[in-house]
Amino acid sequence: MRKMLRRLLKGVTAAGLLVAGFSSGSVFADGKTKDVLNVAHRGASAYAPEHTLPSYELGEQMKGDYIEIDLQMTQDGHLIAMHDETLDRTTDGTGRVNDHTLAEIKELDAGSWFNEAHPEYAKPEYVGLKVPTLEEVLDHLGPNKKYYIETKAPEVYPGMEEKLLATLERHGLLTDKALAKRHVLIQSFSRESLLKIHDMNPDIPLVQLLWYDTPAVIEDAELDHIETYAVGVGPNYKMIDREYVQNVRDHGLDLHPYTVNKKADMKKLIDWGVTGMFTNHPDRLHEVLKGR
Ligand code: G3P
Ligand code: CA
Repeated sequence: MRKMLRRLLKGVTAAGLLVAGFSSGSVFADGKTKDVLNVAHRGASAYAPEHTLPSYELGEQMKGDYIEIDLQMTQDGHLIAMHDETLDRTTDGTGRVNDHTLAEIKELDAGSWFNEAHPEYAKPEYVGLKVPTLEEVLDHLGPNKKYYIETKAPEVYPGMEEKLLATLERHGLLTDKALAKRHVLIQSFSRESLLKIHDMNPDIPLVQLLWYDTPAVIEDAELDHIETYAVGVGPNYKMIDREYVQNVRDHGLDLHPYTVNKKADMKKLIDWGVTGMFTNHPDRLHEVLKGR
């Protein structure tokens, strides 16, 4: 009964917000209504070396609404775009990011590994690509784009959140206008990191990432808590079902599963009511969304 009432109220709220140009937590790009966000995961990382400028540019070209950026921090305190805590997988370097200065990391080749791993998408211009700093990504793409930024391993990098917010501020991404248009979403698996950011600036939209090893159930109590600091959740998509999606949406939270690369899965999740998803193939998701 309580659930039914909640659904009814949410429906009324959603209808009212739609009239006003907002959704129940969903993001609207530049005044257009978008009910399912296309998040270019590490850029268009199926087609270019992840977390490099060409990958981000391709994400834009392939109609990603947001460019996803994972953050690590160098020994000398620079935020860089990289998924792993170590350099080994995506560069020709070795060892931990936080054992290296930015100058050392800038010496590395962040593209050749992709050509070797994905010969079908290899390009000569990927050889010798540099690991970009967050600053460089924002300078390159500019304040009119949308960024979905993850604080990775924040427990390893004290001060990461302060540096992130200062960088966003410098780039005009925390103005009232930018916040209203959700030019930045910040995501993390670390609740502590999100709570810290929420404490520093409660107007920044946050997404709680979740990982499940077994079929997922999400309780009202957990959603009630997440609602106090975040606008959405991001679970691994393989472990969720229609009921999970419904529960999250009943709480007015956005739901952005990761990392969805097959059209059949994209369609199923959209049918269940997700409000966006992370994909290495933003072109595929665009086709799916266009075809609805
Ligand atoms: O941020 C969503 C998704 O990217 C989380 O997984 O490991 O790809 O950062 P991961
Ligand atoms: Ca990520």
